[in-house]
Amino acid sequence: DEVPVIAIDGPSASGKGTIAQLVAKELEFHYLDSGALYRLVALKALQIGAAVSEENKLAEIAANLDVAFKDEQIFLDNMPVTDEIRTEECGLMASRLASYPLVRKFLVMRQRAFRQPPGLVADGRDMGSVIFPDALLKVFLTASAEMRAQRRYKQLIEKGMSANIHELQRDIQKRDQRDSNRGVAPLQQNADARLLDTTSLSILQAQNSVLEWYRECC
Ligand code: C5P
Repeated sequence: DEVPVIAIDGPSASGKGTIAQLVAKELEFHYLDSGALYRLVALKALQIGAAVSEENKLAEIAANLDVAFKDEQIFLDNMPVTDEIRTEECGLMASRLASYPLVRKFLVMRQRAFRQPPGLVADGRDMGSVIFPDALLKVFLTASAEMRAQRRYKQLIEKGMSANIHELQRDIQKRDQRDSNRGVAPLQQNADARLLDTTSLSILQAQNSVLEWYRECC
């Protein structure tokens, strides 16, 4: 595939979504928020009362997911769910079902379909390792757990949701552990990915690092 991809992977609340969207805007590339797909499967599972243990049922949800991404809004079964999928409940459920190989398998094609000219910026956990192994630039974007909890806290408060920073940090660490230790597509820095630690970087600085690396390699 000739269409260039920038893969940005990293732990939850590291800021990869923000940075990926800004880089996409700057380059006028498409943007894939792969975590949203796992969150959408989670929301659907919660809606119909599917249990975390039911791998086949969850895989079926993933295979038949009716989703649309339009103007920065996300729709499930034609209903807007942009904010609803951001709750910690959805995040935790997403991280649980993301460990099922069958669920992941059914989301592969859907993710690759985002690769359209002139290019794609994709963020997640396995963009560089599994979904787009031939990405032109792979970035592993991270930050300290404390900083990530603070950022997620601010994000939720700005959306008018309630949050407790200690609970957030605990949940983030739980999720990181599960994402890093699962058998399929674990969260880890690829040998060919460049490390970007944003703990003490501004959004602009982080965005510029990615853009500079991209211009270097292309
Ligand atoms: O990135 P975000 O926090 O929205 O992702 C929610 C969950 O979906 C993650 O905790 C992770 O378990 C899962 N995920 C994944 N692979 C991706 C993106 C997200 O397993 N590429």
